[in-house]
Order: sequence, then structure tokens, then C-alpha cells
Amino acid sequence: MPTELLYLTDSYLQTASAKILDVQDLNGQTAVILDRTVFYPQGGGQPADQGRIMGELGSLQVSHVSYNSGEVLHNGQLEGQLSVGDEVQLVIEWPVRLRQMQWHTAGHILDQAVKNTLPESKSVDGNHGIGKKLYVEFSAPIHAAELAAIQDQLNSIIEANLPITFEMVTKDQLVERHIHLPFDLPGNKSLRIVQIGEYPPMPDGGTQLHTTGDTLPVLVTGVQEKEGKYRVVYEVETVVPAPSVTSQEELPPVQNVTTTSQTQSLETLVTSIAALKQKLESDLSHQEPDLITKYLGKKGHFNELAKLLRELSTSDRRQAGQVLNELKLNLETKLHDSNPTAGSEPSWVDLTVPGITPPVGHMHPISQAMEEITGIFERVGFTRVRYPEVDWDWYVFTALNMPPNHPARDEWETFFVAAAASPDKGQMVLTTHTSNGQVREMERLHSQPPIRMINIARCYRRQQDATHTQMFHQFEGLVVDKGINIQNLKGTLDYFAEAFYGPGTKSRIRPFHFQFTEPSFEVDFSCHICNGTGLVTDPDTGENTKCKFCKSGWHEVGGAGMVHPNVLKAGGINPDEYTGFAFGWGIERTYTLKQGLNIDDIRLFYSGDLRFLEQF
Ligand code: FA5
Repeated sequence: MPTELLYLTDSYLQTASAKILDVQDLNGQTAVILDRTVFYPQGGGQPADQGRIMGELGSLQVSHVSYNSGEVLHNGQLEGQLSVGDEVQLVIEWPVRLRQMQWHTAGHILDQAVKNTLPESKSVDGNHGIGKKLYVEFSAPIHAAELAAIQDQLNSIIEANLPITFEMVTKDQLVERHIHLPFDLPGNKSLRIVQIGEYPPMPDGGTQLHTTGDTLPVLVTGVQEKEGKYRVVYEVETVVPAPSVTSQEELPPVQNVTTTSQTQSLETLVTSIAALKQKLESDLSHQEPDLITKYLGKKGHFNELAKLLRELSTSDRRQAGQVLNELKLNLETKLHDSNPTAGSEPSWVDLTVPGITPPVGHMHPISQAMEEITGIFERVGFTRVRYPEVDWDWYVFTALNMPPNHPARDEWETFFVAAAASPDKGQMVLTTHTSNGQVREMERLHSQPPIRMINIARCYRRQQDATHTQMFHQFEGLVVDKGINIQNLKGTLDYFAEAFYGPGTKSRIRPFHFQFTEPSFEVDFSCHICNGTGLVTDPDTGENTKCKFCKSGWHEVGGAGMVHPNVLKAGGINPDEYTGFAFGWGIERTYTLKQGLNIDDIRLFYSGDLRFLEQF
């Protein structure tokens, strides 16, 4: 069950009650998963929160928090015992959070200051305190001479004390409001955007100050070039941190908090609240009488604590009010839910309570694409086959008209397997393409056409970048019969284009060279954004600009051609009697071009990141 992220809607929330969903032992450390949390898990450049999770029988001093597939893991040292189902109180170490929030917001202000100074610049990364590094990274050059102007912009954004607001939005709402994001949001899922004043909103999952004026002075200290990116490095003025909550014993006793002679800080109030909640837990477990009067009565603990409000600075009072409201709610719920006079635990079980729904997964998007592609070809008489992923050189190269030492082999970036070679079929390789299935299929059918094969398999090449992975998938079509010609190939491509990408999608073939087809082609499909024109029209101005998605009107997906006579011969088929066509395309590439996906890095498919995969 995903953890509810309370900090997403209120960055100033310091305490909350929650229920333990899981407790894991991690070699001496403990990880606790809760149904809701105020703790920020490290991410987006912002470091994790610290603090304490307090239960009736024990507490966890939280030293690190991380996010894993919807669940927040609170890691730290356990004192006593915390168990699944326990109701616990959460308190974050506020001075640490406030500092980290100042670093984070300062990073966003700096980002905006750079964009104000150099409007073409685009931020690509940022670090707001992890490993004590503070920087925002940009893709285009930024020179030292521009830093003074950036600092001026930054100062004026801080001085303007602009509000920083959040909103959860869907893709439809973004489109309606003409908000452009640096990436496409799949489906109509909600996304949190943060906005500084009237500047364009940015997607953000971190915690932010209320206004730009709440940050301490921010100093741009330099710019560093790293692998073609430009890091603008900054510092945020340091303050002496207030004392933090470290252990239960160090919490000030509740009675002390009524002292009015000293100047109180928000931190003291938060610490006292935690202590009060501890005391309530203890009183409830000891079945103390009159607890409602003692805690919520006119002269009760809550009102005594609320008097501290008067001691706080005006700027702290608003946050303190929120924290006290949360406490009151918490006390009321606890006191009214408990039944101290009834004695022991209820002896009945409520059989109507709904069960816990186990999380249900789904097929990987590439498997979904494979199913769809199989269905499209099966409908027109193709047979789905599978051939080995680790195959002999003969099927991968030699039988495909690429004899040993042929230069065309160099293009395939092959992984060779260190195993004994076969005397007639050569070395073993990881299949570089699904074309190894061509001669295998001819052999399977005893060299007796007609052949209508669709071979889908994993392929391997020594390549890794945004459009290439070392392991990927291809689907290979092979048709061999009497009288098969290029028109049959083109008709099949057009059929697939419409069936997979939707009505109106066109296919295009361009001359190319493959050693195993003659003639050979590269296959393109028309772009669904510009309908193959390469131009998009601005609905407001009517102006035509180059389509950013395809740049030319077309997307290349793979290769095709008429089967080379030597390949037919290698499969025992007489090329004077039969002809054929073949095509082979990358599934990842073919799939990412589907309308609405616009995924520009296929490595995401194999990142194992559920936040990405859950969207399909
Ligand atoms: C081939 O692999 C040929 N066997 C295709 C073919 C089959 C031609 C039948 C003629 C007849 P190519 O190397 O261009 O061709 O790869 C085809 C497609 O596979 C590419 O367009 C791309 O979509 C995909 N592909 C290739 N390498 C990778 C990789 N490393 N990662 C992801 N996809 C890849």
C-alpha cells in the first residue's frame, strides 16, 4: 500500500500520527513503513528528513528516509519495540528540514534567476544539499561573466517575497492552461507543480518555503563545466540550528512548557507537543481517570501548551497554529476513541471490516506491445514462432549472406559466447537480430513455402544510450511464396501502420543496404503529431514550425527488403521458383512512437522503476 505523502500538501507539517504497515530488520538498523508520513524521502536533489517515530512500546530515531515504489522507508535505530498495526506519532527534526527546504527553494529561485538572465537556458539537474552539494545544472553554456547578472535576478526574486504555491494537476488541465512541461505526462495522472509568483510552474515533489523571502541570503559562487553541462553552484547563509529532538529522555517534561519567563521557539513547542503525546499514550495505557478534562479541559494540558503561542514571533505563529490544531485533533480522536473504563481490549472481531487488497501488477509494457503485434500479424495469416536467443554464427550471419570476415558483420556490435564452436555452424553468439529466424523457419518447414513467419525475440548488441539498450526486442516478418513482390511488402507495412498506430498512419520505404535482402529498405512511419508533414501549426497564431517530435514528418523503425537469393538457397529453397520479403523492427522503438507516449529514453523500460511502469 503506498504511503500517503503529507509533506506534498503542507511543507510545514512537522508532526502527524500514522499507522505502521511494515517493520523490516536491515542488519542492525530498522526500516519502518507507514500509511502516511511527514518525513521527506531523499530525492529530487533534496536530502531526507530526520526525526523520531514514537510508539507505545518503543521509538525509532530516523536517520534516513527513502522512497521505493510508492512506499516510504524510515530507517534508523530502534529503541524498544515497534510492531505492524501500531499507532505512532511522527516528529521531524524541524531545524534540519527548514535548512534543507531553504537549500531546495534557493535552488528553484536560482533556476528562475538563470532563466530570467538567459531565457534560452534549460535546467537538466540539481542538487540541493545531498552530500552538502548545492547546484543547478544547465544544458547550454553559462559563463562566469554572467554570474553577476544572475545574482541580481536572484536577489530581486528574494526581495519581491513572491508566494510559492503548489497544485496537483492532470495532463488535461496542463493543456487547457497552456502550461508546457519539460516532459510528457502519460495518461491523465496527477502531478504536483510548484509556482514561484507568476513564473511558469515546474514539476516538483520536494518541500518548499511559503515565499521566496523566507529563504536566507543566497550567493551564487561559481559555474563549473562538466561533460558538456554547466553547474551553477550556490550557497545559502548559515544559521545556528536550534536544539533538536534526539531521544525520549531528552524531551522537556510537559509541565515545564507552561513557563512563560523564557522566550519560546517553534522547536520547543514541537518538542513539547511530542512529549505531551507520549504522556497521553502512557496515561491511556495506565487507564488514568478523567483524561478528557486533564487534556482538553479549560485548564488542561492542551490549553497550557497553547499559551506558548503568545511567546512566539509573528512569523512562527502561523505554523505554530497549524501544529496546535493538528495536536488538538489528535488528542480529541485519541481520547474519544479510547474507552479507559471498559478495561481490557475488546474481545470481538469485526468480520465486516474490508480485507487488505494485495497490490496487483500487470504485464510489462514491452510484453503488452508483443501481444498486440502478434495479434495484428496473426489476423493476416502469420504464425508466431520463437528461435534461440543464443544461436550459431551460421543463422545470425553466414546463412544471411554474411560469410566469415565479411565487413557487413561489423555493424552488429556482437556479443560472442565463450563456448566450443560447432564444426559446421561456427561460434555461438547472442542474437543481434531476429533475422536468425529466417533460415531456421525455412528449415522448420522443410524448405516448403508458403512461409508467413512472425518471430519475436530478445536481441543483444554492445550499445547503450537513450535509443539503444544492450538487450532489446525485435519482431521479424518473413513471407516466402511464388510471386511475392515489393507491393506485397508495402501493403503489409501499410496494414501494420494503421493497425498499430491508428487510421491514417502511412508507411514509407527508403533505399538502404542489408546483406540479406536485395533490394533493401529502411522503413519509416508517418508522425502522428504532424501527420507526416514535418510541420505543426500554432492554433493561436497560425504559424508553422518544425515538428519537434520527428523533425521530418517520419520516424524510422527498422529495415526490410526482398529476401536475397543466397538466403533462400541457405534455407534449401529454389530462388528461381520462390521469392519473399522480410522486415525486422525494434519493439521498443516501434512502441515509443505510439500516440500519447512520446518516451525519449528507452532505458526507462528496463530501469525497474515502478513509478514509470505503473503508468502503462
Ligand atoms: C536489423 O536488425 C535487420 N535485421 C532488420 C531487417 C530484417 C532488415 C529483415 C531487412 C530484413 P537494424 O540493425 O537497423 O536492422 O535494426 C532494426 C531496428 O532494431 C532498429 O531500427 C531499431 O529500432 C532496433 N534496434 C537496433 N539496435 C537496437 C538497440 N541496441 N536497442 C534498441 N533497439 C535497437
